[in-house]
Amino acid sequence: MQSFPAVDPIPLPAPIWLFKLLHIVTLSLHFVAVEMLLGGLLLAVLLSLFRGSAHSHVAARAIARRLTVVMTYVINLGVPPLLFAQVLYGRALYTSSVLIGVYWISIIGILMLTYWLLYRFSARLDAGKSAWWVGLSAWLLAGFIARLLSTNMTLMLRPEVWRDMYSASAAGRFLPTGDPTLTPRWLLMLAGGLFIGGLWMVYLAGRSTFSADEKKFVAGLGGKVAALFGIVYLFAGLWAAGVQPQAVKAGLATHPLYHFAAFAGYGWMALVVVGFCWLFSQASARLPQVGLDGRALW
Ligand code: HEM
Repeated sequence: MQSFPAVDPIPLPAPIWLFKLLHIVTLSLHFVAVEMLLGGLLLAVLLSLFRGSAHSHVAARAIARRLTVVMTYVINLGVPPLLFAQVLYGRALYTSSVLIGVYWISIIGILMLTYWLLYRFSARLDAGKSAWWVGLSAWLLAGFIARLLSTNMTLMLRPEVWRDMYSASAAGRFLPTGDPTLTPRWLLMLAGGLFIGGLWMVYLAGRSTFSADEKKFVAGLGGKVAALFGIVYLFAGLWAAGVQPQAVKAGLATHPLYHFAAFAGYGWMALVVVGFCWLFSQASARLPQVGLDGRALW
């Protein structure tokens, strides 16, 4: 018997290239928001551990306050790619979602808990209370959601394991095992989080609400984190690409579109880094303008 579900007799209402384009564009936006959440939250948690340092506390508060807004983008920018992925690859995606059904449906509850913890994290920081454990709980839950999404998106590509999984539990009680691509792919997203989180801090340093010293601290730390995790991100990407099945590697190597996409991707990343270096230099150039009370004059 054929494992892969039959083609839906209802035709697509628009050309496939249009759905694919919209899928890639909206998913990229979702990824930016996800990286800001995962990286920004971890950085805010680490900063909140240094309660004795006024700069760390101010930086943690600034990031934490924005994370609840970032979460709205994570969710709202997750819905469109989910719809496009279902339209394009529904037969695979629905099957894998059912096979891990208990975990897949649990994302809704975990997401709500994470969201609530983000508010608590920010409120506790504002009140000057110990908050790192609340933020860390939110980060662990968000990381688990990321893991479940990576699990589903890789399981949908492995129809050869579907039958055994369904035999093991028709209720979707088990997660798949034995996929060498899953962990590198998940860690790639986590490493990217710290890269984007660092860049975000450089951007945040330009806020007029920070004092000159705070700007210097936030921009300097963000720049260092971005530089370090930019390198980690690159290696994680090479690792994730290296463990792809032979058919995927061959497809990437031969298709001219993917050659172009790789160059466009690297070019885009270089532009982002140059842009943030410029922001960093702008923030530093304005440092001497400090009032008697030590706060920025502008
Ligand atoms: C804390 C919340 C979330 C986190 C941390 C998160 C993280 C991630 C990660 C890491 C991936 C990449 C998985 C991979 O391909 O390896 C991903 C993909 C995806 N996420 Fe999210 N996500 C979150 C919430 C959501 C929500 C609420 C939705 C939808 C309503 C959503 C929709 C998607 C979709 C559709 C994909 C993959 C689509 C594809 O590959 O075609 N995500 N997410």
